[in-house]
Amino acid sequence: MSEGLAKTTAVILAAGQGTRMKSALPKVLHTIAGRPLVHYPVRAALEAGCGEVVVVVGHGREHLERYLGEAFGASAAAAGRIPQAWAQRVKTAVQKEQRGTGDAARSGLEAVGADAERVLVFYGDVPLLTADDVANVAKLLDEDAAAAVALATCTTDDPFGYGRVMRDALGQILEIREQKDLKSDAERAIKEWNPGIYAASVKFLNEALASLKPNNAQGEYYLTDIVSFATARGERVVGVPSRPEVMDGVNDRAQLAVADRTMAERLVRKHREAGVTVREGARIEDSVVVEKDAIVESFAVLRGFTRVGSGSLVDVGCVLTNADIGEGVTLKPYSIVTDAIVRARAQIGPFSHLRPESDIGEEAHVGNFVETKKTRLDRGAKANHLAYLGDGFVGENANIGAGTIFCNYDGFSKQVTRIGKGAFIGSDSQLIAPVTIGDGAYVGTGTTVTRDVPADALAIGRMKQENKEGYASRLRGKLKAQKEAAAAKKKSGA
Ligand code: UD1
Ligand code: CA
Repeated sequence: MSEGLAKTTAVILAAGQGTRMKSALPKVLHTIAGRPLVHYPVRAALEAGCGEVVVVVGHGREHLERYLGEAFGASAAAAGRIPQAWAQRVKTAVQKEQRGTGDAARSGLEAVGADAERVLVFYGDVPLLTADDVANVAKLLDEDAAAAVALATCTTDDPFGYGRVMRDALGQILEIREQKDLKSDAERAIKEWNPGIYAASVKFLNEALASLKPNNAQGEYYLTDIVSFATARGERVVGVPSRPEVMDGVNDRAQLAVADRTMAERLVRKHREAGVTVREGARIEDSVVVEKDAIVESFAVLRGFTRVGSGSLVDVGCVLTNADIGEGVTLKPYSIVTDAIVRARAQIGPFSHLRPESDIGEEAHVGNFVETKKTRLDRGAKANHLAYLGDGFVGENANIGAGTIFCNYDGFSKQVTRIGKGAFIGSDSQLIAPVTIGDGAYVGTGTTVTRDVPADALAIGRMKQENKEGYASRLRGKLKAQKEAAAAKKKSGA
């Protein structure tokens, strides 16, 4: 973070509807790598050290304000998701009617704090840029005392759709002209374009934005016209050559997909550099934390505020959403963990489903086709096959047999099942909650438990078995005779 930008306010424009997205959701709330587009430019401004960030909102304003409050407010800082110093730095300004980027910047400027000296304006739909990319523009303005505006520029072979940088014969920037306002093939052939990061003093911007007129192809107030405003007054505008690969704006779903892939690749690279093995095809969202020496296999998807502890294996096809995975955990293929905790060295899967508020203890085992919800397994407890464990507590080293069901729901309310330390629940048992099985108790296979079982007791609730000698061959004879009689009857009837 640079001290240099403490008196710089970032104004981020995000009030537009994003017509080209064809969506009910405001454009900047569409996500890449698990976070809304707008998240990234706001974070870039904060990381660059801007003293204040003003996000201009309009279309879908309530949604956007709620998101920014959650992601950059005090609660995010308290949860350790953002540095403490960031909380309270992000505010919003409202653009009532979406009359263009110049009008949006004007709305933003009204909210800029009194002690700000300089403003960096950029767009909420350019998610791949980083703190350095914006800081460089402010730095150039500092270095060139004669410049009224500094802006980023990019040069690529196909800048279709972007505003072009028009220069005079000496190479000085004169104007930014929008695609729709280009007048000739020669202008359309200009390869230098405007990615949309501007730095200027508060004073200059106030004057420039007040002068804007909507006399262009789209009938809008263009922020880009601050450039011709400066040059017409004989003031200098300077360009910072910038990285085109991080400056693509997202205007439609195809560009959203490209930005999403680029961000995902950047994140994979980051994790690999930090000592995580990430196989081809794995997907890790921006908000996820993965510790060193974890292995994330192909087609695993790590979402939301998931954390994976060091040395853990997330095998093929696992989907983790806000999962807290401890150290040395093994998640075998195709396990789903949502809003749940798995503690150190536990083993999960394949095909386990840990639903919200599950808490799987150290060295516990949860196996194939076991579903848990709001259930805690203490250290070393095991449920290895085919079970539903909802609203329960399973004590240390207890063993839950295949086919066990915690019958937690009577159609009206949820009830709790408690299983003591070292208890043994035989296969195919139903535990009708509320019910408690004492420490070390034993439930016989196939038992429907309706009453509490004391510690160390055996509960068994099945019919006594009877063996009838020779019955099987008598039965087979009877069935064979019936079949022959039916065949004979059919033949004579035909
Ligand atoms: C803009 C630039 C263009 C540049 C391109 C870079 C202008 C006039 N054009 O074009 O030179 O090459 O970005 O990506 O600035 N917004 C508002 N209020 C409005 C209109 C827009 O807040 O009234 C916000 C949008 O939410 C969006 C951003 O401003 O986040 C940019 O608007 P958009 O319409 O996408 O501009 P471009 O056509 O991409
Ligand atoms: Ca855009």
